[in-house]
Amino acid sequence: MSHTVMIVDDEENARLNISSFLSAQGYEVIGVPTLAEARSVIQRGNADIILLDVQLPDGYGPNLLEETARMPMRPPIILITAYGDIEMAVEAMKSGAHDFLQKPIQLAQLGKSIQRAQEIVSLRREIAHLRQAQHQSLDFIIGSDPAVQAVYHQAQRAAAAQVSVLITGETGTGKEILARAIHRMGPRSNKQMISINCAAIQPTILESELFGYEAGAFTGADKRKTGLMEVADGGILFLDEISSMPLEMQAKLLRALEERAFRRVGGTNLIRVDVQIIAASNRDLPTMIKDGKFREDLYYRLKVVDLHLPPLRERKADIPELVGLFMRQLNPGMGTNIYDITPRAMQALKEHHWPGNIRELRNTIERAILFCDQAFIDLPDLPPDILRKPA
Ligand SMILES: Nc1ncnc2c1ncn2[C@@H]1O[C@H](COP(=O)(O)OP(=O)(O)OP(=O)(O)O)[C@@H](O)[C@H]1O
Ligand SMILES: [Mg+2]
Repeated sequence: MSHTVMIVDDEENARLNISSFLSAQGYEVIGVPTLAEARSVIQRGNADIILLDVQLPDGYGPNLLEETARMPMRPPIILITAYGDIEMAVEAMKSGAHDFLQKPIQLAQLGKSIQRAQEIVSLRREIAHLRQAQHQSLDFIIGSDPAVQAVYHQAQRAAAAQVSVLITGETGTGKEILARAIHRMGPRSNKQMISINCAAIQPTILESELFGYEAGAFTGADKRKTGLMEVADGGILFLDEISSMPLEMQAKLLRALEERAFRRVGGTNLIRVDVQIIAASNRDLPTMIKDGKFREDLYYRLKVVDLHLPPLRERKADIPELVGLFMRQLNPGMGTNIYDITPRAMQALKEHHWPGNIRELRNTIERAILFCDQAFIDLPDLPPDILRKPA
């Protein structure tokens, strides 16, 4: 990924020279003559590295050092100082400048300095990326809703007791993220949580995925395969979208859970496992039981602890906290610095009915950050279906 260098210098010639040198090296270059313009480029997250002149028409360049100091993805700043102004340069380095170059600029030196800055930027991006990947799956906001607080409290107990948990709720209400929280809170956190999405796997291969198979069990089974149930031994098996599991498979799963053992497809040996089950469903299982599509005995076996996550429209007071979390999660990976939202935009978010629940809210914030060209999210950054008021 190519890096963008912003040159902040009021002398047009200086900008053009440096810019043609850096473009030839494969950098994207933006040149601006004032601090004000520099600030807006930074806020939009459009500068990876900054080359900064000291005396600018609208202020003192090094002020940017302090202004950007607390940005998580602050761009390295290289100062261009007047010849002999060592004292100033030393001060700048102390306040966090990446490097300084004296006028007249030696291009070879500039090239090296930018290269080092680029390495720092790449490293920071990688760290932010890893951190984001980790955080995204870990942060679970409880909020002020009493129902969710009760759910979380029960989740803690279920985690400690290592019993089966059934999590229900509409799409995007946080079932998977709650399952991860249970894994993290319980004594099995040092073992794996294996997830299987029953809706995404063809019914015919669900059994061999869960239980594994012996060599020769069917055409194409040339080697023994370990099933996920066995891989999860000692840990947790997360059965997502359990309502999509075919009835026949439900019976086999129930037997395995009751006996704490199963056989591989085509195998005769009984394999004993110790697995905690967390199942999730966004469909109403009691209705499915009435319709003969879900086994009642399995249902009771799964819901030793029954956790229901309410839809977002029933916990709108938690929207600001969620928005704050998503801004913290998303900005680093997107290279932006948008950590604020106007009251009227927040109000619009509170008035929406959120059919896609928390996932939809997260996607909305991601899109808003992408479209936003100020330091904060405002009404125009929100998608039309959120701005449209119900009649
Ligand atoms: N309590 C929460 N705190 C923070 N983020 C949340 C919370 N609940 C949901 N999210 C966010 O919403 C996204 C969707 O949540 P999740 O995948 O857990 O939903 P789900 O209930 O499993 O949905 P589906 O039924 O569609 O699978 C998550 O990736 C996470 O970013
Ligand atoms: Mg899910």
